[in-house]
Amino acid sequence: MFGLRHLPVPGIGEVYFKRQPHRITISENLQQHYSFDPAGRFMTGFLNGANYRRGLDSTILRKQITNEAAKACHRLSDAEMQSFINRIQSRVAHISEHVAHSDQADLLPYLRTILHWDYARLYQERAAFHDIYKPVSILPPDQYLSVVLQMAEGCSWNKCTFCTFYRDRKFRVKCPTDFRLHIHKIKELLGQAIGLRKSIFLGDANALVIPQRRLLDLLQVIHEEFPIDAPRSGDNYILKGIYAFLDIFGADRKTLDDYRELRAYKMKRIYIGLETGDDELFELLNKPGSPQACVESVRTIKQAGIAVGVILLAGAGGDRFAVQHTDQSIARIQAMGLDAGDLVYVSPLVVSGEEQYSQQLRRIGARALDRHEMQRQAAMFKTALRPTRTDSPKVSPYNIEEFIY
Ligand SMILES: C[S@@+](CC[C@H](N)C(=O)[O-])C[C@H]1O[C@@H](n2cnc3c(N)ncnc32)[C@H](O)[C@@H]1O
Ligand code: SF4
Repeated sequence: MFGLRHLPVPGIGEVYFKRQPHRITISENLQQHYSFDPAGRFMTGFLNGANYRRGLDSTILRKQITNEAAKACHRLSDAEMQSFINRIQSRVAHISEHVAHSDQADLLPYLRTILHWDYARLYQERAAFHDIYKPVSILPPDQYLSVVLQMAEGCSWNKCTFCTFYRDRKFRVKCPTDFRLHIHKIKELLGQAIGLRKSIFLGDANALVIPQRRLLDLLQVIHEEFPIDAPRSGDNYILKGIYAFLDIFGADRKTLDDYRELRAYKMKRIYIGLETGDDELFELLNKPGSPQACVESVRTIKQAGIAVGVILLAGAGGDRFAVQHTDQSIARIQAMGLDAGDLVYVSPLVVSGEEQYSQQLRRIGARALDRHEMQRQAAMFKTALRPTRTDSPKVSPYNIEEFIY
């Protein structure tokens, strides 16, 4: 184990090594950085002004600030990933040669674990991932570093006109035996890198619609398998609580006592897509439930001591709905009684033009908002809902294009 080390390397300059309990970071002149998990697999990098992050399925997302101060996100193709990983590997190989002839040769075993994970090996991780998981389509931004457990697959509703996340699968709930097996495979895939994870997230879109008795049995399996909120002997990590999405209709079917039970099982925050507070637009989006039902469910969840994350859809309904969408959404959020433990996420609408939502918009003669108009709407939400008191919720962006698990 080492803390921070550095070494001059010809052709590069000053190279820094940092070993944290679950991560190794190499920095070139404190300008380019790349980090690896305890097994040596590439995790994140900052090179030539762009951020890179590898997901558990071994896709790599590149995020770059463009000239217009917007973030451009791009998933590397296989060829791009190969050339990117080869580039990192050749730099680490070059550094290793100099480390071998220095007084810091004890770093070599760490560098060798990194060199073991070349492109071919990292690519094989993709098959291992898909053997365990259905695609993890989206998570709330504060849960990107969770351990996702697909207790259920898909969305029990799957009919909102703008949402295509789970169209590729049927809603299905795992039995406790299959769920435990799923957990064992995830632990094996993560290995020691589980220590980088912060919490448990229940996949997919609304696992909490599972009838209460069945749900508690599945939550019990989680508690038997992971240290939640408290250390266990033999584990060198702790996961802080359980988190999940829930749609409004599913939320409506649970009672205050049900939520209190979930709280006792360490459920810390439930995320609900209100999308809009406007009744007419809500119906057009074909969300289950209603904005008022969402307000009431959120109040019940909070009364049980569970925090919420409420998601609004910036740009929904285009120019035709812009005013009523903004006004009504702000009014509904303000009626929820949120506090500092809660989050309001604003998700700028992303559409391809092909989905049902785009066809509806064309039918009613509405024009989609452009990027600047959408940003202005998101800013209006933020201004209206921004913390005025210390106990106000945090309002943050939720950019689905930046997501990677
Ligand atoms: C898994 S979904 C919602 C959780 C839950 N099923 C619900 O409906 O309340 C997560 C969020 O992704 C966002 N989302 C879905 N499709 C989107 C799209 N095309 N563009 C932007 N955001 C989208 C929505 O705001 C949605 O609430
Ligand atoms: S927004 Fe939620 S409820 Fe609607 S289809 Fe998507 S995941 Fe399902």
